[in-house]
Amino acid sequence: MLRGPVGVTRERAWETLTRFTTSVALIRHALAVEASVRGYARRLGEDEDLWAAVALLHDFDYEIHPTLDEHPQDGTRLLREEGYPEEIVEAVLSHAEHLGMPRDTPLKRTLFACDELSGFVHACGLVRPTGLDGLEPKSVRKKLKQPSFAAGVHRDEVYAGAELLGLELDEHIANVVASLQPIASELGLRTAADAA
Ligand SMILES: [Fe+2]
Ligand SMILES: [Fe+2]
Repeated sequence: MLRGPVGVTRERAWETLTRFTTSVALIRHALAVEASVRGYARRLGEDEDLWAAVALLHDFDYEIHPTLDEHPQDGTRLLREEGYPEEIVEAVLSHAEHLGMPRDTPLKRTLFACDELSGFVHACGLVRPTGLDGLEPKSVRKKLKQPSFAAGVHRDEVYAGAELLGLELDEHIANVVASLQPIASELGLRTAADAA
């Protein structure tokens, strides 16, 4: 079994996530954020399994704690009880804007930067006959300016995320699109092959 330095496997994070989450949309959100965060871990030479575990777990309690007075702080209490290391617990806590925690590690910055954008790119793919294939940053940016499209996605957090990573928005979008393409079918997306 592959183990990161903190000894948390992807399997363990997946088990925790799916024990608390039945919603297909939430599972897909977790998978999308995982793929994006993992993509950055690979680019940066960081611990892919650790980063993936944090991404899978960041909203694991959302179904049982759908309000900000519980999510994710009550969820992280459960993670501690289950023996998850502080590195994971703190990274999960840091994604929540309302807690105002410092995003003082590359993992925390990446999780924040990928959370809203993964959802937005996913939404862009859902309305295209070829899914994410051929999706250009320019058209994602255009959709970001349409408030009614994927209205639940906080635009300010998308822009702040790219800035936090020190990337141009287009580069960040292209990275996320590339990370999501290999899991398109798990995200319920069509591909160019389906449209042919
Ligand atoms: Fe969340
Ligand atoms: Fe999220």
